[in-house]
Amino acid sequence: MSLPEPRAMHDLDARLHEDRILILDFGSQVTQLIARRVRESGVYCEIWPFTTDISRLSDFAPRGIILSGGPASVHDPDAPRIPEEIFALNVPILGICYGQQALCAQLGGAVESHEHREFGRAFIEIVDDCALFRGAWARGHREQVWMSHGDRVTKIPPGFTAVAVSEGAPFAIIADESRRIYGVQFHPEVVHTPHGAALLRNFTHGVAGCKGTWTMAGFRDLEIARIRQKVGEGRVICGLSGGVDSSVAAKLIHEAVGDQLTCIFVDPGLLRAGEAEEVVKTFRGRFNIQLVHRDASELFLNALAGVTDPETKRKTIGRLFVEVFEEEAAKLGGAQFLAQGTLYPDVIESVSFTGGPSVTIKSHHNVGGLPERMKMSLVEPLRELFKDEVRALGRELGLPDIVVNRHPFPGPGLAIRVPGDITREKLDLLRKVDTIYLEEIRNAGLYDAIWQAFAVLLPVRTVGVMGDGRTYDQACALRAVTSSDGMTAEVYPFDFAFLNRVAGRIVNEVRGINRVTYDITSKPPGTIEWE
Ligand code: XMP
Repeated sequence: MSLPEPRAMHDLDARLHEDRILILDFGSQVTQLIARRVRESGVYCEIWPFTTDISRLSDFAPRGIILSGGPASVHDPDAPRIPEEIFALNVPILGICYGQQALCAQLGGAVESHEHREFGRAFIEIVDDCALFRGAWARGHREQVWMSHGDRVTKIPPGFTAVAVSEGAPFAIIADESRRIYGVQFHPEVVHTPHGAALLRNFTHGVAGCKGTWTMAGFRDLEIARIRQKVGEGRVICGLSGGVDSSVAAKLIHEAVGDQLTCIFVDPGLLRAGEAEEVVKTFRGRFNIQLVHRDASELFLNALAGVTDPETKRKTIGRLFVEVFEEEAAKLGGAQFLAQGTLYPDVIESVSFTGGPSVTIKSHHNVGGLPERMKMSLVEPLRELFKDEVRALGRELGLPDIVVNRHPFPGPGLAIRVPGDITREKLDLLRKVDTIYLEEIRNAGLYDAIWQAFAVLLPVRTVGVMGDGRTYDQACALRAVTSSDGMTAEVYPFDFAFLNRVAGRIVNEVRGINRVTYDITSKPPGTIEWE
């Protein structure tokens, strides 16, 4: 392995991050969507909370700044403010919802609470030309947008004109073309604003002059150089789960340092049918990556015997993962680096208006805490990326679609899809149901339209009739949801014929199941997993 030339690495870095947009977060639920839209258009961006120490701003040197929405009102005593330094940069600014209101409040306009609140789909009238509209909207047209506001701008600051109006917001879009400052009352970042992405692109590319240098091919080259520089001749271990993040991290690190990487795959006996074999086949077989496959099913299932409480299950599994991982790492005789598939959403500092810790709904299992215990340095090659970018990088690295497009799978695996106590027999039964369900979803071409689909084995037996006989077997539930980040979810609206077909196959082909239900709960109030 050759270490990268510092000059070449600097050039790669400079090119990839040439365009930089800053997104200042005022606490909107959808701030991350702004960043995803900007990244999709090939522009690197970061999200900073509005409270960030702004002295970093000149180093970051953004080409443009987007101010997010947020739950506050500019009339609140502690209303978040746009740091004045931002105006001094003389770069283009786009304020969205609260961002627009804060712009107006600070630049000499006025904002009022109004009885006519707008939530959801709304229409705006385009009344003038604007640099944001190029190729998307034209004067005199009516356009669909997504609004979510109580306060609204009632007087625009000097230098601005209204370029779009709506019934509930006389200043739906305002622009000061000479200073290149824009404000929109609606949310261009959500899909319910059909031309929203084009508007954002007009801001980043048209107004701010970004060229679109952020690509996953460029990222791969830079990250390989960065990993080589960090790791040198050292050894890296990487926990592989079969999920997208750890798979992409492992493949990328392998491209950088080859056999200095060893992957450890702890198989807790809680995976779907065929998944453990597939991980071994792909990574050891196809990519020739050094892989330790530890079948720890005996250990995990013994420890879980008789455990019915969901939190105890999660904690037991989390603890065992760490123990087994450490044991296998020790057998390798020491490594200096531990790879983790940390993503950008894990490192974005979030804006909290409520303060105080939020209640724990579920303790998530991850390998946090391992690095300190093991005294290892971290290699986190995906820290800059959103999930969609990790998938694109995986494709760039030649990972098979079945890995890259795989639905998320929880760390505690099938254990949290068998409410009540867990046995090998129950897990086997669940695997059979799950396999049929996913097979039908793939055959119907629906897999990629669904965020997650899985079966749950219910701890109930019900009476049925098959042929001439009575059955007294278990019931199962099927779940499928759409989501953009797992934080909220909607049930997937399968057509009835599909559900009927799946249910028919399950009761006919899986001995021990005589009833199938479809879970139609959204999140909130439900969660995606049952435990
Ligand atoms: P819930 O059930 O909380 O799940 O709505 C949200 C998303 O997180 C996944 N999930 C986990 N992922 N470790 C993980 O890595 C965990 O312990 C865990 N628990 C839930 C779940 O599958 C869904 O995508």
